[in-house]
Amino acid sequence: MEPNFKALRKEFPVLERKTYLNSGSYCALANDVKAAFDAYMEDRLLVGANWDAWITKNESVRALTASLLHASPDEIAVTASVSAGLNALASALDFSGPRNKVVVSDFEFPTNAQIWHAQEPRGARVVHVPRAADGYIPAESFAKAIDENTQLVAITHVCFRNGAKLDIPGIVKLAHAKGARVLLDCYQSVGSMDIDVKALDLDFAAGGMLKYLLGTAGIGFFYARDALVKSLVPTNTGWFAQAEIGAMDITANRPSPSARRFEAGTPPVVNCYAAEAGLKFLLAVGTPAIEKRNFALTRQCMQKLQEIGWPSVTPVQDERRGATVAVPSRDSGALSKELMKRDIVTSHRDDNVRASFHFYNNDDDVNSFVAAMKDLRASFAPR
Ligand SMILES: Cc1ncc(COP(=O)(O)O)c(C=O)c1O
Repeated sequence: MEPNFKALRKEFPVLERKTYLNSGSYCALANDVKAAFDAYMEDRLLVGANWDAWITKNESVRALTASLLHASPDEIAVTASVSAGLNALASALDFSGPRNKVVVSDFEFPTNAQIWHAQEPRGARVVHVPRAADGYIPAESFAKAIDENTQLVAITHVCFRNGAKLDIPGIVKLAHAKGARVLLDCYQSVGSMDIDVKALDLDFAAGGMLKYLLGTAGIGFFYARDALVKSLVPTNTGWFAQAEIGAMDITANRPSPSARRFEAGTPPVVNCYAAEAGLKFLLAVGTPAIEKRNFALTRQCMQKLQEIGWPSVTPVQDERRGATVAVPSRDSGALSKELMKRDIVTSHRDDNVRASFHFYNNDDDVNSFVAAMKDLRASFAPR
């Protein structure tokens, strides 16, 4: 049975005041998530230092993230950001031999290119796969870049600039055929669609709780496939990455046997409260239903933009699209501000205004956005 989206919408008070199309930057705040922040404050006031609650919340976030990704909790590190997880992974890789190539795409969020370029002094060679003439990057384009010297293919699931989704099964197949591993940056997709790290045959994945996972900034996750965990020893580490957190042993580095070895210091405690509430909410709605709804909303939005003569640059095929519709503008920053004056919350990257949808959006949101765009078209559409 389809979730009751109308009732769920009421759990996000900002939606009474705003047309909120910014989940690709920062989700709307759910009542449950606000209550979780309040519970943290209460705990601090009433209990003081609640170490057990801290640990319980961190483990709860780990277990919920595992269930979201169809992984095991031992394959999940709870991190402070995508960058933190990627840096821990990078520190465990050896680029001194012939297999020193890292393949990224031109769709990457900066952090998933900068961190690999930062490994160049350690021997890494970073190769960028460019867009094709139509602006998309098909799996075939990766075939030219991935070879026997490729150690890692580090790619985004959905592009933060234009909402395009890469062909992950196709790229994973190409990478594994050459003995390379695949890292998926799924920050722009996780929570907006169903992701099964096993079905996708991923080696690593990273994301965070700020966007479609309904949580907050300062908390993320890193997934490492069970069979790989023990072969990787991050030098970027800390006491929460040790086999025994409480051992307080200063004579050696003893990494956890699980993916917790990719963690570092004290967890972001207040963020764990918020992330736990967000993940519980999202899992109760269900990612397959969310994916279906987001496809319907983005499809409708793109069709209506086409009707007003201001088409988006986001691919029309469902298999090539995430939950964001990106619309080109001669001044995307000013357009986003104009929309905000009309209580329509969007964001902008490059020359595009981004309208990102989540299950709490509805047809009225699509209509308000497109009506405002129609009004603003003469001043802001590309010349
Ligand atoms: C695809 C993608 N990766 C990574 C990030 C950010 O990573 P971090 O958690 O390191 O700030 C973002 C957005 O903030 C993103 O859209």
